Amino acid sequence: MLVELAEERLAKKLTPQLFEHCAGVAETAARLATQLNYDPDRARLAGWLHDCAREWSPAQLLRFAQANSIEVDKVSRCQPILLHGPVGALLAQNWGLHDYEILSAIRYHTLGYPGMSLLAQIVYIADKIEPGRSYPGVEQLRKKVSHNFDEGLIHSAAQSISYVLQKRQIIHPLTVTFYNWLVEKTGE
Ligand SMILES: [Fe+2]
Ligand SMILES: [Fe+2]
Repeated sequence: MLVELAEERLAKKLTPQLFEHCAGVAETAARLATQLNYDPDRARLAGWLHDCAREWSPAQLLRFAQANSIEVDKVSRCQPILLHGPVGALLAQNWGLHDYEILSAIRYHTLGYPGMSLLAQIVYIADKIEPGRSYPGVEQLRKKVSHNFDEGLIHSAAQSISYVLQKRQIIHPLTVTFYNWLVEKTGE
């Protein structure tokens, strides 16, 4: 799938706010990819598509997941918005994208995944630091990422976990195993 086609399709389907966010993630992912010697065009395409199902309603996400044998675990059943990654990946596949690594980056961009590819890591971080993002701690995260990508990744996963803790929501086990994997990986 060409990036222009993805952009054109998303322009019709997303609200202007989400479209802007996806544009920001696409450009940030491409910039990070260049710095990390990864293909910026694949990173840009993944960035554009990562939230293609983000505006679906909880009922739509659950229905699509169930109809397409996407696993709906206990946490996702309570918070169907968590399904927008796996649902988005299948949606992108239905649109004609068959690049497994890009599909996997879309699938895991919300929760992370132990062993995730460099592309998936790039999209995960770009989603958190794209220029349109403004939340407490984003500036510190941007600095960490530009100083040391791996440290930035751990910092971001920790931020996500503490955000969920503060809101007294259930932490998805995948996010915890992702965090543990990052810590083990960088401590080696
Ligand atoms: Fe998302
Ligand atoms: Fe996003």
